[in-house]
Amino acid sequence: MLEGKRIVLGVTGGIAAYKAVDVCRRLVDAGAHVVPIMTAGAEHFMGRTTLSALASEPVQTELWDNPTTPIPHTQIGQGADLILVAPATARLIAAYRMGLSTDLLTNTLIATRAPVVVCPAMHTEMWEHPSVVDNIDTLRERGVHIVGPAVGHLAGGDVGAGRLADPEAIVSAVVDILGPHDMAGVSVVVSAGGTREPIDAVRVIANRSSGKQGYAVAAEGVARGAAVTLVSTVSLPTPAGVQLVQVETAAEMQAAMNQAAGDHDVVVMAAAVADFRPVDPPAGKMKKRDGVPEIVLEPTPDILAQLGATKRSGQLLVGFAAETADLRANAAKKLTAKSLDLIVANDVSAASVGFAHDTNAVTLLRPDAEPVEIDLANKRDVARAIIDTIVAIRTRH
Ligand code: PMT
Repeated sequence: MLEGKRIVLGVTGGIAAYKAVDVCRRLVDAGAHVVPIMTAGAEHFMGRTTLSALASEPVQTELWDNPTTPIPHTQIGQGADLILVAPATARLIAAYRMGLSTDLLTNTLIATRAPVVVCPAMHTEMWEHPSVVDNIDTLRERGVHIVGPAVGHLAGGDVGAGRLADPEAIVSAVVDILGPHDMAGVSVVVSAGGTREPIDAVRVIANRSSGKQGYAVAAEGVARGAAVTLVSTVSLPTPAGVQLVQVETAAEMQAAMNQAAGDHDVVVMAAAVADFRPVDPPAGKMKKRDGVPEIVLEPTPDILAQLGATKRSGQLLVGFAAETADLRANAAKKLTAKSLDLIVANDVSAASVGFAHDTNAVTLLRPDAEPVEIDLANKRDVARAIIDTIVAIRTRH
């Protein structure tokens, strides 16, 4: 994902400095060349040998200790594809905002045109201090990417906002910035979550879909440059840059998807749509004293089949198949019956697969290509494989 990318990893003096080792390892694993810089403060919290051993080069700290160049303060920043500071202390943030070049890291930060990602970590009182708030706002306005902080345990037993963001989230932000933008100019609509069909004013028929897989597809699409609309029944955090349309029932989802399909290049139905809904649900609450109700069901519209029947030329239609047996055969039938270009089949009876899990394992089926297996992986990685396939299909057309 980051092959050939040169990333400067700046580490400053905070208790979270040790987590920079994990961030570094993940960046190297993703193919990046990592140039580590530690401030003098960071050395109070972590030995430079550890970071040097895992990074692509030995740690540098001083402006003056580089035997290969007298001008490391400009060379490192000029050659970088991205500069990441994790953790970033209040002092580093203030110095960067002011343009103070007091050490190798601050010099590098102001001698670069590369994107910069700053991951603050400090106590809650510091994070909420007006000067820090103001500095962060200013950096954001200048286009610096701020990742975190998270809420959780801090040094000294405190709990609150100020914890370094998870290494996984930090590296994912870097990948979003530096990864391929091969969906630029493409519009994508994704459905996510399970529909809820009213039984009466308070009861619904629902399913176990959390929306995680659909949101991951939306997040991956927007990270790769697509204009993404998300039609959702759930309230997960909306990925930055994604336009959200909130719905609840199959009928509302159908209306939203039909409208979006009119002007989107790619349509992805990751939602779990109820197949049946109660006929004429009463407006009020059914009373227990009236006895066990007889609930008559009717089929919901098959949104995806209708989108397949009315597909515009050049439009790409992606469905999902949630199966508990005969995965490939059942998914292949849906691929054909609904005129899809791609179906993402998951065996939702398998451990850690499908509904509500953070992970999924899928088979990607196309009408004219061999099936591709994606082994158990987090849903964002599955989303990456789906978007890769969409890019491949679009490139071939
Ligand atoms: O949301 P998560 O917790 O992350 O879980 C992810 C998931 C399991 C919901 C997802 O991976 C998934 O499998 N989504 C499709 C679920 C489903 O309804 O599958 P299906 O095989 O019943 O339907 C086939 C396709 O037709 C689906 O794309 C579905 O969106 C669509 N459909 C189904 C019925 C209907 N009335 N209208 C539809 O459009």
